[in-house]
Amino acid sequence: MENILKKEKNKPIGIFDSGLGGLTAVKAIKKLLPHEDIVYFGDTGRMPYGTKIEKKIISYANQDINFLKSKNVKMIISACGTVSSYVKQLNTPELITGVIKPSCQSAANLTKNHKIGIIGTSATIKSNAYIKELHKICPDAKIIQQDCPLLVPLIENGFTDKSSDMLCKAVNIYMKKFIEEKVDTLILGCTHYPIIKDVINDALGGRVNLINPGEETAKFIKKHLEENNLLSEKSGPGTYNFFISKETYDFSEKANLFLGYNIQKNTQRIDIHKY
Ligand code: DGL
Repeated sequence: MENILKKEKNKPIGIFDSGLGGLTAVKAIKKLLPHEDIVYFGDTGRMPYGTKIEKKIISYANQDINFLKSKNVKMIISACGTVSSYVKQLNTPELITGVIKPSCQSAANLTKNHKIGIIGTSATIKSNAYIKELHKICPDAKIIQQDCPLLVPLIENGFTDKSSDMLCKAVNIYMKKFIEEKVDTLILGCTHYPIIKDVINDALGGRVNLINPGEETAKFIKKHLEENNLLSEKSGPGTYNFFISKETYDFSEKANLFLGYNIQKNTQRIDIHKY
């Protein structure tokens, strides 16, 4: 039994998202759990997920999960707000999502005026998944949500900082109602959004707590591994392998910028339709 557990412990963690967004979780995991190996899949060929219908999101997520299962991982994490919003329909017991619940808990702990905002993809906002969770934790909170369909394509195309007028304009429009409603806490309900958190912070005048779902997911994974006695026993730095469904060049370039190290050598393209 001890040997089986040992073997399990040292397997990698499988993480997926539609593209770059899940790297916000990878970055946080590297800091919190430096000895863990990671296999990451970004479905760059089929992103964005957040503008797709529920049936498509579920069928894509099932293929992503099947791919990660083929990599013999110890757990599979959806680092995607959109997939996490439809997790009940997925019917995949192996899948764990640390995005929604921990982000809502963190928002509930931080808010002082009980006015909480949520931004997400259109599919996430339509599902009301965050609102339902927040209502359970914080029944008296005023919750305001806004879908931001332009943000994921802008981020995936490299518009990630203040030098982009297009990005700043879109963010200013999306933030308007949160300023009017005086929310004091905003859940970045899509794992892509922390990549542009400085632009969002500026649009809100630096006065709003921003909840980063990538960091919340990393904290959740740590807790899950500790509680289930599954922390890696390796002592050196974890290894990272990245898989994508389209063009390695672009993805690695952007990922290098975001993660602060070169992942080019460890990135491979796969045919996700086989899974
Ligand atoms: N990072 C995904 C999320 O958290 C983006 C979804 C998309 O591809 O639209 O929702």
